[in-house]
Amino acid sequence: MSLHDLHDRTTEPAEPRREPELPGEPAESSVPAEPGTAATRRVGGFSRRGLLGAAGAGLAGVAAGAMGARVLDSADSSPADAPTLESKTYPFYGTHQAGIVTPAQDRLHFAAFDVTTDSRQDVLQLLKDWTLAAARMSQGLGAGELGPTSGPYGAPPDDTGEAIGLPPSGLTLTFGFGPSLFRKAGKDPFGLSDRQPAALERLPHFPGDNLDPDKSDGDLCIQACADDPQVAVHAVRNLARIAFGRAAIRWSQLGFGRTSSTSTSQTTPRNLFGFKDGTMNLKAEEPAMIDEHVWVPSGADAKGGWLAGGSYLVARRINMTIEIWDRQPLREQERVIGRTKAEGAPLSGGNEFDQPDFTMKGRGDEPLVATDAHVRMVHSDNNGGVKMLRRGYNFVDGSNGLGRMDAGLFFLAFVRDPRTHFIPMQTKIGRGDAMSEYLQHTGSALFAVPPGVAQGQFVGQALFD
Ligand code: HEM
Repeated sequence: MSLHDLHDRTTEPAEPRREPELPGEPAESSVPAEPGTAATRRVGGFSRRGLLGAAGAGLAGVAAGAMGARVLDSADSSPADAPTLESKTYPFYGTHQAGIVTPAQDRLHFAAFDVTTDSRQDVLQLLKDWTLAAARMSQGLGAGELGPTSGPYGAPPDDTGEAIGLPPSGLTLTFGFGPSLFRKAGKDPFGLSDRQPAALERLPHFPGDNLDPDKSDGDLCIQACADDPQVAVHAVRNLARIAFGRAAIRWSQLGFGRTSSTSTSQTTPRNLFGFKDGTMNLKAEEPAMIDEHVWVPSGADAKGGWLAGGSYLVARRINMTIEIWDRQPLREQERVIGRTKAEGAPLSGGNEFDQPDFTMKGRGDEPLVATDAHVRMVHSDNNGGVKMLRRGYNFVDGSNGLGRMDAGLFFLAFVRDPRTHFIPMQTKIGRGDAMSEYLQHTGSALFAVPPGVAQGQFVGQALFD
């Protein structure tokens, strides 16, 4: 049953609750033009903060809720027009999907789905339903028009409700298509195999991989990023609910503490090894580099023309043997990475953002940045100029029966072609990177990320046209 079926069953749809207009503030606002730019927005229709005020308290409650929201906004000492962290929104519609060059938010909920229908029409309708819900949620609205408490009493609400009262929190939703959407067990259920890009194949087995099939692959994926974990979880949960009967979650991953900076406006975060991560990442402020290394150019692929302006998303669940790492001397930790732990500066000297000098030698004629140090292994100068947009997150999924943490880095990277921009580098890391001794890759997936969605269209429309 789709969200629209639900709506159809409503004989007299309840008026969506509107956040009361505040003096001097429009209830509707235009969508900011530039993708990737944040803005504070107030939009018509069901609003999460509006509902917080309205829930159970009648008109007085509405006023109190509006005041509450108002107080929340004005408590921030930043200028009236500057978005607070919580009120930040990114446009859903645009040339490229949000959540790629968008400054990496703090939290992640990533989900891979298996399609559970044989009907091409069902898949198409699912993408339409996901588009509408994603566009709403990324603006701080409920997943459906009625909201968590206003629909018909005899039907499940069209929003699950746990984000009531929570601001948009910079939510972005990014959708991808796995190789198995195009071909599965030798079959082509959706008539898409002649549109499968040549680069969209299951990633090969790399040295040191210990993959769990229950944490790998998938027909579809959703990357939800936000500055509030509950907002990201709410988004994925509602999209999974909408998918009922058409797609089901195959595996999912929560992440925290972004392990990359994707904008020069951000400070460099740290991974669970305690090192700065993202220093040499591609940044949104380098559009020429992003064009060269992230977006799929038109004409790149005879079958994959629909992917022009999109990208490929590599997802790798990488467990760290934290307990072993924590017993290593600082000297060894820095040798493995090739940078200082405090500042993230190359071991050859300089500051964090200075380029490493791989030729500089220290005592004993050994290079200061070891020959198997991670940064030497992966630096673009040593990989034919290749760069990628890393957008990973730390994860801790409890502990195992031996009291060791199930923790690591959920590596996410956007690249224009995994055959040139990921597979050779990962092969090299698996074979000779000193860091590999402390890592185990437990999940792996590759997705084609279609280009951005224009108003009135749905995500991946060009694939089905
Ligand atoms: C748990 C796994 C990993 C950890 C802890 C890790 C950690 C780091 C750290 C600390 C840096 C230096 C700071 C920076 O420039 O961002 C770095 C750089 C980098 N890493 Fe990793 N990394 C991991 C996995 C990977 C993988 C799987 C790849 C790709 C196959 C990769 C590619 C890169 C690249 C391209 C750079 C930038 C190198 C440069 O241009 O200097 N990393 N990583």
